[in-house]
Amino acid sequence: MRSLEIKISRFKPGVIDPPAFFTYELTPAPAWTVLDALEQIRIHQEPSLMYRRACHHASCGTCACTVNGVERLACRTRLADLQTPAITLEPLRCFQRVGDLVTVRSALFQFIQPDWSCLQPDDKRGDRDLLLSGPDRTITRFENCIECGCCVSACPVARSNRHFLGPAVLSAVSREIKKNPSTEKDLLTLAAAPDGEPACRRALACSRVCPTGVYPARHIYALRDRRTGTGNKP
Ligand code: SF4
Ligand code: SF4
Ligand code: FES
Repeated sequence: MRSLEIKISRFKPGVIDPPAFFTYELTPAPAWTVLDALEQIRIHQEPSLMYRRACHHASCGTCACTVNGVERLACRTRLADLQTPAITLEPLRCFQRVGDLVTVRSALFQFIQPDWSCLQPDDKRGDRDLLLSGPDRTITRFENCIECGCCVSACPVARSNRHFLGPAVLSAVSREIKKNPSTEKDLLTLAAAPDGEPACRRALACSRVCPTGVYPARHIYALRDRRTGTGNKP
C-alpha cells in the first residue's frame, strides 16, 4: 500500500486543550486495520496516544471510534477497504471524552440490572458449568450487543438529548422483556418515559452502524408496538 495520512483528533486535559487534529504518516501493510495503524503510531511516533482495545476481534467493543465520520470498530476496519488517501479518526460522540480516542461508556450500563438475563449463564443448557470448569470449557456468547456505543454516537436524538435512554439500552430492555416476561410491566414503564422509546425519531442510524447485527431500531419499534398495543411483539 501507498503511504497514508492518518489525522487523529487529540485531546489531553490541560495539554492539548482544546482538542486539535494531529497528522501522522505511515505505510501500512495490505491487511492492516485502523487499530493496527493506531498501534504503529503509538509504538513508533506518538507514545502518548490514547485509545482502547482488548480483544482485537470485534468482541469487546472497546476500540469503537469514528472513522471518516462513521462509527466503526477500529479492529475490524481494514485501511484498504476505506479507499481514501487520508483517514480521520475521532472519538465516539455523546460520551464523555477522557483523552484522544478514549471515552467513558458507563452510561450504557446504568439501566442494566445485574439480574437481567443477558448477564446470566443459561443453567438449563449447562452454560455455567461450561464456562467455569474443565479443560474443555467453552465460551458461550449470550447476547450480540458488545456495548461498543456506536449506535448511541450515531443517533441524532442522543446527540441533542443527553437524557435519551438511547438505542443500546432500549434494545437491552426489549430483549429482557422477551426473555423474562415477568419484567414487562416495570421495563415498559422505563422504556415508555418521554426520554425513552417515544423520543426515537426512527432515523435508523443506530441499526446502520451496529457492528454485530443487533438492529436496535427494530427493538425500539417492538417496544413501541408493546406500548401502543399494535403490531408484533419482539
Ligand atoms: S432509530 Fe431512534 S434510536 Fe436509532 S438512531 Fe434513529 S432516533 Fe436514534
Ligand atoms: S446495539 Fe450494536 S452498536 Fe449499540 S452498543 Fe450494542 S453492539 Fe454496539
Ligand atoms: S478490540 Fe475488541 S472490539 Fe475491537
